[in-house]
Amino acid sequence: MPKVLAVTSEKGGVGKSTLAVHLAGALAERGLKVALIDEDPRVGSSIRWAARGMNLGGSGVGGAGLPFAVYEADDVKPKKLAALDAVVIDTEGRPKRKELRQLADRADLILVPSGTSALELEATLELMDFLQSDADAARRARVVLTRVPPVGRAGEEAREDLREAGATVCNTLVRAYAAYQRAAELGTLARDVRDPRADTAWEDMLALSREVL
Ligand SMILES: Nc1ncnc2c1ncn2[C@@H]1O[C@H](COP(=O)(O)OP(=O)(O)O)[C@@H](O)[C@H]1O
Ligand SMILES: [Mg+2]
Repeated sequence: MPKVLAVTSEKGGVGKSTLAVHLAGALAERGLKVALIDEDPRVGSSIRWAARGMNLGGSGVGGAGLPFAVYEADDVKPKKLAALDAVVIDTEGRPKRKELRQLADRADLILVPSGTSALELEATLELMDFLQSDADAARRARVVLTRVPPVGRAGEEAREDLREAGATVCNTLVRAYAAYQRAAELGTLARDVRDPRADTAWEDMLALSREVL
């Protein structure tokens, strides 16, 4: 059975879909068989991301589009997933506690993207506290610091603060680059957009992918 990597967060707009799409992309580039399941039906979701890539002529192979399948939650058959190495789940923000428990039960790893601002760190710690109240889920929940300013030490400091507060945090800091926004617009990966920082952005996601699988 595939490893299930779920992405969730206490707030919307923190970078869940960006992380989910790029993590799946990085795993695919490393030769793993991967699919993305979109459990967030709203604008900005991964389904629409993939659809933009298709509409703009991407084939999903060799550059444009996304190099993996994206399924709607209702539309996914267990058979399609059985042969995969990994399944990434993109979720809606502000999950209800019950939904979160169910997600925690299904996932091998729960990734919680968070920005570095004090307010975001607070919300992230709240969610981690909830997840860590269940010993089993605690082991599997990890914060991913994202939209980290490329200049300065805000990312390192946030990582240290979260760890001091008892949260497990991925080493990789996903830095803030315009290439991600461009990738969302074009329905592709940051790797494939024309931008001077595209490769740097992609390196962050590759490094993160190696940390999680
Ligand atoms: N690492 C990043 N660098 C720059 N912009 C980012 C990054 N991650 C996310 N964003 C931007 O932040 C906004 C919200 O991201 P999104 O992934 O849609 O969040 P969510 O799925 O949590 O609502 C989008 O405009 C996206 O392009
Ligand atoms: Mg989203």
